[in-house]
Amino acid sequence: MSPQPAAPDRDVTAPRPGAAHRVHLAASGVSVLLDVTDGRVPAIAHWGRALGALGPEGMDALCEATVPPVPQNLVDVPVRVGLLPQVSDGWLGRPGLAGSRPDGSGWTPRLITRGLRIDGTPPADAHVETGAAHVEIDLEDPEEGLAVLLELDLLPTGLLRLRARLTNTGTGPYRLDELSLSLPVTATADELLDFAGRWTKERTPQRRAFTVGTHLRENRRGRTGADSAHLLHAGRPGFGFREGEVWAVHTAFSGNHRHLAERTSSDQRLLGGGELLLPGEVALEQGGTYESPWLYASYGDGLDQVAARFHRHLRSRPHHVDARRPVTLNVWEAVYFDHDLERLTDLADRAAALGVERFVLDDGWFGSRRDDTSGLGDWVVSPEVWPDGLGPLIDHVRAHGMEFGIWFEPEMVSEDSDVARAHPEWIMAPSPERMPLHSRNQQVLNLSIPEAYAHVRDQMLALLGAHEIGYIKWDQNRDLLESATRATGRAAVHDQTRAAYRLMDELRAAHPGLEIEACASGGARVDLGVLEHTDRVWVSDCIDPLERQQMHRWTSQLIPLELMGSHIASGRSHTTGRLHTLGFRAHSALMGHLGIEWDLAAASEEELAELTAWITLYKERRELLFTGDLVRADRGESPLWLQGVVSSERDEALFALSAVGRADTAQHPRLVLPGLDPAAAYRVRALLPSGPPSHLTPPPWLSRVLEADGAVLPGAVLAVAGLAAPLLDPEQGLLLSLTRESAAGASR
Ligand code: DGJ
Repeated sequence: MSPQPAAPDRDVTAPRPGAAHRVHLAASGVSVLLDVTDGRVPAIAHWGRALGALGPEGMDALCEATVPPVPQNLVDVPVRVGLLPQVSDGWLGRPGLAGSRPDGSGWTPRLITRGLRIDGTPPADAHVETGAAHVEIDLEDPEEGLAVLLELDLLPTGLLRLRARLTNTGTGPYRLDELSLSLPVTATADELLDFAGRWTKERTPQRRAFTVGTHLRENRRGRTGADSAHLLHAGRPGFGFREGEVWAVHTAFSGNHRHLAERTSSDQRLLGGGELLLPGEVALEQGGTYESPWLYASYGDGLDQVAARFHRHLRSRPHHVDARRPVTLNVWEAVYFDHDLERLTDLADRAAALGVERFVLDDGWFGSRRDDTSGLGDWVVSPEVWPDGLGPLIDHVRAHGMEFGIWFEPEMVSEDSDVARAHPEWIMAPSPERMPLHSRNQQVLNLSIPEAYAHVRDQMLALLGAHEIGYIKWDQNRDLLESATRATGRAAVHDQTRAAYRLMDELRAAHPGLEIEACASGGARVDLGVLEHTDRVWVSDCIDPLERQQMHRWTSQLIPLELMGSHIASGRSHTTGRLHTLGFRAHSALMGHLGIEWDLAAASEEELAELTAWITLYKERRELLFTGDLVRADRGESPLWLQGVVSSERDEALFALSAVGRADTAQHPRLVLPGLDPAAAYRVRALLPSGPPSHLTPPPWLSRVLEADGAVLPGAVLAVAGLAAPLLDPEQGLLLSLTRESAAGASR
């Protein structure tokens, strides 16, 4: 590393010429060895399984051992790809930083390390070995006038996250096209798993071989997207929930973004991601900065470990929700736009009688919003449908001891609205003359215009100030096509996304304790960016339990159950037309933040009694569900899915067996219940709020479990050898509750 003058305004420890810093971070079974050397961008020599204490020699040996040889007919030095890959280091894959000066120069920076701090302090030694820590690295290219602050956290959960802040230190503007970060994965990671999806079918998994080239998942929707990559995994072929090393990245951003897996012809493999910037969207004046979103990275032996690191991280947030998540009734599928005080107070009475704790008034209460063609942007209560305002409904709901929640779509505007008529310049459009195509009959309100932002904020605050409102369902129902500031034509998705986050924070600051649900045409906004500002996500507009089984399985790969809105709807699904029993609907909704979205006036007395039993069960079990570890069993192609939640002490668990189809064979593979202590014994009971599944011929162990006191079974049988699987009909479920008995055994 050649000596460089230290930046005058920073506390910089410039590594000695030719010297190297090695930083070994280790937490929760994960090691990260950072190699900061030779005047290049820092690189990761190891990210994966914990290595134990290495000592200085071990760190040097590992860094040296992972330097690749110089292949023929390529640059004459070994190319170790950095966290911010760049061409000047010999990297010929996708560069992490792309941009240029107006004259075309500055597009190939040579950033080098100029300073390193660990938990805010420059290291005293060239070798550092520590636990979870916050690392900051200053990079600079004085010639091109660019500086980058790279931040890397190894969190106590073993989750890694990185972000970069670019500063234009040169003279004149710098146009930034991309700032993405990357992490290396080993050559054993031969298979990729990420997600696709669409409205009402979010997060459908897709696997492929990790071949040479780039698997690039770009999102230009201006929202996370029903088809978002969600998490991009690379792992040993066939990796499952419980086994197989796997590495995953997630870009924590709700605007345009990308995820990528890249494998070069030299067999270097990277996972990366960042924000997707539109042309000219970020132009940095001298001294201007841009900060990337966090790129989260999780390593595990099996997908459950990858997920657990995210779950534990989210649960450690200071504003994370209480485990006693209130049973919610959302009125959308019950009444749609038919807002009528009498009907809604009746619904509130019925909800309260069931034990519902939160009542949410959905779309249709404001402005001219009698259907989805008008009114967005006018956040004032409609005198037409609410002649006495919302007070009577809210008072009624609160008199039942329920919390009141309300729907907003703050980033949107209908052209048929007072605000659009008064301020057409607030509508996002590529030019004053041309509007983007409509989507759900609506346009986007430009929150990067301070007056537009203030309009929405003030109207929202006025309503929140006038009533006891504890919860906002924050919706966002269209993609951002051609979303620019109308007067200038300049793209504004980046600013819009940041403004939405800012508005959420302002509302929460003004109303401490206010919860916000992130919804976007159902589940098109599920990401860790929005979850820094919100408290749950609406998984999908499809409440069909069969579809939800798959969506919950994969949504929970990123977020814990208490953040997934999970409702019981009417017997016939409004989006698929399928009919399901109440038992399967409730069974499928139980492992999530439970709600109801059903016109209860149309439910029979028997259904209401059954529903009450499920709500009671949820209340009894929610603390376990929302503090325990999610476990999902690997069962090959079997349509008999098994997932559970096991308490951290492994003394309590709840397992759900769900038949999502019919098997080709007469019997299913055995049930091996993951996460239990094989050395313990557990009392196993069946929980049957809807009675036993029909046509059930239970295997002998289940016959004993179905008796009043259940049966005690050894952990070795439950967790290792496995149990004969019962033959459930399709779209049936069975819940098993397990409690540790003091000693192992198989007696009753
Ligand atoms: C889309 C949401 O996902 C639904 O739950 C509902 O709130 C509608 N928007 C209202 O317009």
